[in-house]
Amino acid sequence: MGLSQIARSIKESPTLKLNETAAILRDKGEPVIHLAGGEPKSKAPIDAILQCASLLNTGEVRYTPADGVPALKKAVIRYTEDHYGRLVAPENVIISSGAKQAIMVALHAILDPTEEVVFPVPYWVSYPEMVRIAGGVPVPAAASDGGFRPSVQDIEQAIGPATKAILINSPNNPSGVVYSREFLAGVVQLAEKRDLWLIMDDTYNRLIFDGRQPDNCYDFTDDHSEQSKLIVVNCVSKMYAMTGFRIGWAIGNREVVRAMANIQSQQTSGPAAPSQWAAIGALNGVQSSIEALRMTLENARNVMVDRLQAIPGVQVTRPDGTFYCFPDFSAYEKDSRKLSDFLLEKVRVVTAPGKEFGMEGHLRLSYCGALREIKEGLERIQWALDPESANELHLGNRKLVRDWK
Ligand SMILES: Cc1ncc(COP(=O)(O)O)c(C=O)c1O
Repeated sequence: MGLSQIARSIKESPTLKLNETAAILRDKGEPVIHLAGGEPKSKAPIDAILQCASLLNTGEVRYTPADGVPALKKAVIRYTEDHYGRLVAPENVIISSGAKQAIMVALHAILDPTEEVVFPVPYWVSYPEMVRIAGGVPVPAAASDGGFRPSVQDIEQAIGPATKAILINSPNNPSGVVYSREFLAGVVQLAEKRDLWLIMDDTYNRLIFDGRQPDNCYDFTDDHSEQSKLIVVNCVSKMYAMTGFRIGWAIGNREVVRAMANIQSQQTSGPAAPSQWAAIGALNGVQSSIEALRMTLENARNVMVDRLQAIPGVQVTRPDGTFYCFPDFSAYEKDSRKLSDFLLEKVRVVTAPGKEFGMEGHLRLSYCGALREIKEGLERIQWALDPESANELHLGNRKLVRDWK
């Protein structure tokens, strides 16, 4: 019907679709447990709400500069100094509508048609589609040992004459893995050696467990000049539980940031002003909510991993961060979409199929919800899969009898 080639090639975000499915079933009164979500359930920090309200109270909610209001850039500059030990100028900062838009405008700014972007497997569902929207070609790089941690050689092997950029997300959605310092240092050096852009998606880097500290990619390079091709992306979405505000940012050299700002100015203009004010409140306000969230997630991670380990045949890698776990269910079913559909149909548990993240046989399970739901969700999954479990299960006020093997 005359749609563009790109439009025809782009899939709907499967994780956002799962949110919709869960909401529809809940509205129908189904006892759904949503283990495919991508957002913390805590409230936004009060400083964010008050700052946002102060703008709304004026009744004067106007366009902002396309690359963000100066006060938010200032807060981001301070954040970058505090957490990366790096002093950047306002011209090195762009504020976007979420980390998603920051990555998207970065890709638009650096890719020519058919140029390739290499990223490790498993990967965040949106990377391949975002690269395609920008006219590029996604090149997922799988670990040669089939695990969650590709080596620098695995990344290097995926690089070809058309490669323009490498895209790294650590801690990783969906595996929860934090890549090693050696790997990150190796990738930074590899990108420099091959003159490639390197986008570091640090969306989850404050949500790390077991006393680990986030690595700082700037530690691995001596190039702090305006020639550097390193772009670092962050957002308020996950660490402050502010997904709905849609504020993220990128730090890069002045030339690429200017190009990104030009694209954004023609695409959406600046992010919504009330959201920018909220982000100023969050970044400049009391920071204790991040640690409270991090500790809650670490506890939920422990509960989820313990329960998964109790299911015979399930292989689970303990996540180092994020709020996702990516267990291997292939002992039960190799086709992850089939397994995800089966769990939804039989026991009303929503899970995200591993195939969407580049790895069959796995499911992505989130532990950002209530502990009670995590426990019950895993109980239901075990009941549905493990033939040794009891014959009956109570689902809300319904009694289920297992009539499948
Ligand atoms: C790895 C990764 N990067 C970026 C984003 C997008 O963040 P935002 O909501 O700020 O656009 C997400 C959201 O799920 C994510 O998992």
